[in-house]
Amino acid sequence: MIHKYDVLIVGAGGAGLRAAVEIPKEYTCAVISKVFPTRSHTGTAQGGVCAALANEEDDSWEYHAFDTVKGSDYLGDQDSIEVMCQDAVRAVIELEHMGVPFSRTPDGKIAQRQFGGHTKPENPNDPNSRRLPVKRACYSADRTGHVMLHTLYENCLKNQVKFFSEYFVTDLILEDNICKGIVTIDIATSEIHVFHAKTVMFATGGFGRVFRITSNAHVGTGDGCALVYNAGLPLEDMEFFQFHPTGLWRLGILVSEAARGEGGILRNKDGERFMERYAPTVKDLAPRDMVSRAILTEIREGRGILGSDGTYYINLDLMHLGKKLIDEKLPEITGFARTYLGVEPTKESVPIQPTAHYAMGGIPTNVDAEVIADEKGTIVKGFYSAGECACVSVHGGNRLGTNSLLDIVVFGRRGGKKMVEYLKNAEHTEFKVDPAEKTRTLLDGVLNKKGTENIAKIRREMQEVMMDKCGIFRNEKELGEALVKIRELKERYCNASIQDKGVIFNMDLMEAIELENMLELAETIVVSAAVRTESRGAHSREDFPKRDDVNWMKHTFIWKPEDGKDSEIKYKPVTITRYKPMERKY
Ligand code: FUM
Repeated sequence: MIHKYDVLIVGAGGAGLRAAVEIPKEYTCAVISKVFPTRSHTGTAQGGVCAALANEEDDSWEYHAFDTVKGSDYLGDQDSIEVMCQDAVRAVIELEHMGVPFSRTPDGKIAQRQFGGHTKPENPNDPNSRRLPVKRACYSADRTGHVMLHTLYENCLKNQVKFFSEYFVTDLILEDNICKGIVTIDIATSEIHVFHAKTVMFATGGFGRVFRITSNAHVGTGDGCALVYNAGLPLEDMEFFQFHPTGLWRLGILVSEAARGEGGILRNKDGERFMERYAPTVKDLAPRDMVSRAILTEIREGRGILGSDGTYYINLDLMHLGKKLIDEKLPEITGFARTYLGVEPTKESVPIQPTAHYAMGGIPTNVDAEVIADEKGTIVKGFYSAGECACVSVHGGNRLGTNSLLDIVVFGRRGGKKMVEYLKNAEHTEFKVDPAEKTRTLLDGVLNKKGTENIAKIRREMQEVMMDKCGIFRNEKELGEALVKIRELKERYCNASIQDKGVIFNMDLMEAIELENMLELAETIVVSAAVRTESRGAHSREDFPKRDDVNWMKHTFIWKPEDGKDSEIKYKPVTITRYKPMERKY
């Protein structure tokens, strides 16, 4: 079946929905989603969306921009960061007007809380003043992403956006540097649906499922990024993958940084508040890369707490916050601790460990969410990307908490606006070849394969090796071993078969395709990490412990290799406007 739309948005998380809201009713707009829209991963974002509203204390967008640049370990493009931070206040007020039920201050303003790496100078008149945590995260208890997602979905319905829920994207149609549409499978029937469009946006989210312990929903398999890569376009900065310091021990389920923003404290086995040693000024509110490394260092040096299964964790102490604050401001995450670990956070510490959380890298774009085809910035016509799958790059080497909910609404909207501008002179361009052919071959291949390998087993082994050898700390030897393993798993995948050969809701089939996507992305992460011989942000090389601005102040662009060849890698310089790179101390 072939569908025709002016605008096609793949992914119904915050970025995709915010873009869809921007499309005027005179254009036809469809959103394709692997799940029902309100089950998108944005719904799991907890602690807040940041903007220098200054509702609780003095603040400015320039402080926010400085923190974002510093938090990114100076890899973020400063022009993009300025665009995002300047637009933040408007974006949050717009969300409020759309209907997002933010928590309130006693006088009725949007309430704000502290978050890691968000600071302001103690003395604004002294350029060398130390910087202390500032209340910049606007929140709705600890379910901010959930309420944003639902509000954006309601606004899309009001705008008569057409939704195709439980459609799985299998191909991106790019011909002569023009994006012409996508191909999908209707998960309920396995029927192929081709979507012919004048403009396409990928807002397909991240790929945390590449790792064993992750906060990402099961949908986070990076399908959009893999399709872009397979279509011959590059991916940017894939080596930068963020571990959030506080995932529930062994499960990885997110325990929001809001817990520490509200005063929660990390403690080692001796009860010590160890972050005082690693970040004396901001302590538990240091950026995530630093806190995750500190936690792992405590565990490696014998100060972790031994769990019943022989693995180690660190304690998150919320007890002193009191039941009233916990119930009002942290109800979801404390509920998770009760449900999944049987721990009562008002009386006991919560066992946590770092969890794979966010891809800083992804599909390269400019500030208008236009996808770029190379390190020179050549635009792919009619193709846009926003949200976690995209790399603008505002997060550089390490994202600050609450900047992702901001990123999705700022760049989702900018992409929506740019698509509308493009539509004024755009037509449906005819396909040169049968667009469904590749997907037919894919389905036949997966459904009829008779190999002896098992999809779940290969996935597990990929997740283990990525966690153990390409996680928080990396080195040449282990990255080399990881690459050998990922390539071996890719070969074994060719000999894997699935058990369900049917066409109705065939989850075996979907998981097989998702795994193929993840294996591609895992390889790009490992290769990019092996090449970058420095430590910056979330990319921490034990064999190259220092940041190297002379050689590595640049973004990695990686292309899919031809069979049997090495990946092609090129670099794009970081854009620096007003913030001179300096040592990152907190
Ligand atoms: O900790 C959190 O609530 C996560 C927020 C984020 O990733 O921005």
